[in-house]
Formats: sequence, structure tokens, C-alpha cells
Amino acid sequence: MTTFIAGGTGFIGRRLVPLLAQRGEDIVCMDINPQTADFAHLGDRVKVVRGDVSQFDDVMAAMTAAKPQRAINLAYWLGSTHTPRVAFRLNILGMDNVFEAARLVGCNRVAYASSLAVNGEQKFYGDRMVTEDDFCHGHVQYAMHKIFNEWQARDYREKHGMEITAIRPANVTGPDKIVGSVDHVFCITEPARGKPVRFPYRDAMRCPIHVDEVAEIFARVIMTEKPQHWVYNTGGQAISLGDLADIVRGYLPDARITFDKETGGQELSGNYLIDNTRLVSEFGVQYRPYHERVLQIINDIRKEERLPQLAVG
Ligand SMILES: NC(=O)c1ccc[n+]([C@@H]2O[C@H](COP(=O)([O-])OP(=O)(O)OC[C@H]3O[C@@H](n4cnc5c(N)ncnc54)[C@H](O)[C@@H]3O)[C@@H](O)[C@H]2O)c1
Repeated sequence: MTTFIAGGTGFIGRRLVPLLAQRGEDIVCMDINPQTADFAHLGDRVKVVRGDVSQFDDVMAAMTAAKPQRAINLAYWLGSTHTPRVAFRLNILGMDNVFEAARLVGCNRVAYASSLAVNGEQKFYGDRMVTEDDFCHGHVQYAMHKIFNEWQARDYREKHGMEITAIRPANVTGPDKIVGSVDHVFCITEPARGKPVRFPYRDAMRCPIHVDEVAEIFARVIMTEKPQHWVYNTGGQAISLGDLADIVRGYLPDARITFDKETGGQELSGNYLIDNTRLVSEFGVQYRPYHERVLQIINDIRKEERLPQLAVG
């Protein structure tokens, strides 16, 4: 069968494509930056075409040619600093273009990336885990667009009977992440390059999850014809930047990670206590211990820098 992936050459997509190919899928990626991933080793299984998801004709033409049974949309502006119309065109119109083109070509199975951002700050919930059934308190541009995407997907589900699933990744981490939430990434990658790094608050909380885990989640969810729910939290590892810095120092004793303030920052933190029972029980995902993922990222950077690999402790 064929899976169509919009935004498939990005940070998550370039890991997801090989996982789907290993499962026997043919894949057509449509991306405005098709050159940012190399799938040559996957041969004919993967086709990459250039297209703009905010242009309905591009999506329709690519989907009509691909004739997919499944579709995924990962194309998005991360962050909330984009001008309103620019953000709207990719995040809102682009998402609807994928839903509508999928509908018109008879592709009933769709998945897309929402985000933990729909929940806003942890302070809205107090000191407890947040589930998919909780009210969404997100309020910035990125969060509001994700909240609207979720509403729109449910409208398609109700009115057109489509099987559209939202996945809400937490703070995705990996060596090549450069947009979105990046402090928890730079806390690892900068010391791994021998560079100093400084953050405002030691107690700022994050919920990182390695990008390999997120790619595996998308693969399992899209390959399931009828998941039990319309939305899934990925969850991740709730951790302060200070504790993350301590893990990094365990591998790199000379790491120069400093904080402006030793306390505070927790009240400003986004949702970090995230319940992923739904995903774990239905899809059987198990995450590798987070400290192993930190070491993996350090070694990815050391490989780039032509430094010797650190052994697993
Ligand atoms: N990375 C994270 O921490 C994180 C966390 C939560 C949710 N998400 C969501 O996951 C999805 C994928 O994120 P990512 O980290 O892979 O982002 P990314 O920016 O690396 O990938 C997005 C891809 O979309 C492509 N794209 C951008 N504009 C396009 C357009 N007009 N037409 C076609 N393609 C276009 C980009 O070229 C890129 O390849 C996004 O929806 C993002 O909001 C990411």
C-alpha cells in the first residue's frame, strides 16, 4: 500500500519514511524542501516530490498521482512568531488541504501531528498528569492552530466518516532539531560540541521524547486501520533543564552549562506532566531510558565532529 507524507523530509519525517518502508509501504513524500532528506538507500519504495501544502492544486496533483491508502501531514511552522497570514496558510489551510485532498482521492486513513502545546502551561492543571480528555488551555499562535486542526479533523471524521488521528508529540529531541522547543536539545548538543550554553532557569521543566520514538509512534498509528481514539499523547520524560544538565555532565564532565537563576521557571513551563496511557496500552510502545537517548545524541554530535564515541556507562 502507499502512504503519502506531506512534510516528509523534515526532522520527524526523515525517520518515519524508512520505518514505513521497512513495513512494506511505498511512500510518496511531498515537501517544499525535498532535498533535506536522502532516501536513495530505500530505492523505488520512496518517491520525493516538490510541492507546497498550502497550495491545494499541489496537494491534489501529488495525491492523485500517488493514489495513497494512507496520508500523514507533518508540514507546519513550528513556533508562534510567524506573521498571521503566513502561519494560517501553512498550518490551517495546509492541514485542510491534506484532509480535503485525501477525501477526494478516497484515502480514508489520515494521521497528523498536533502537539503538547494544545495544553498550554502546566500551571493550568496543577501538579498532575494531563490526559487527552482535559480541556486545552493553549493560547499562543502555534497552540491555537493545533487546537483548530484537531477540531477540523473531528469535523471531517463526523461529516465524511474519515479515520483521522491526531498525535500530540511532547518536546521532540534529536541531534538535528533546530526549530521549535530547542533548549532541551541545545543542553545536550552544545556541550557535545565543546561549546558553552546558558539558560534562564535551572528549574524550567520540559518533557523530551526522542525523535526515533516519535517516528515509531507515527508508523504504528498510521498502519492501524481503526485506532480506538481520535487523539494520542506521546508523553515523554518530565525533567528540569538542571537535571538534564546533570545527566549531560555525567557523560561530559567538562560540559559548560550554566543558568541565570538557580530557582524559578517552573511556573512558566509548558505542560510537562503528560499521561500517555492511551498510546502505551493500545500500541505497546516502550521508550528507551532517557539517559540512553541523551548519550545517543551526544554520540551523534561527536560523530559529526569526528570525535571518538563515548561508551555506554
Ligand atoms: N519537533 C517537535 O518538537 C514537535 C513537537 C510537537 C509537534 N510537532 C509537530 O510535528 C510535525 C513535524 O515536525 P518536525 O519537527 O518534523 O518539523 P520540520 O520543520 O523539521 O518538518 C516540517 C517539514 O515540512 C516542510 N514544509 C514546510 N512548509 C511546507 C509547505 N508549504 N509545503 C510542504 N512542505 C512544507 C518542511 O520543509 C519540513 O521538511 C509538525 O506538525 C510539528 O508541529 C513537532
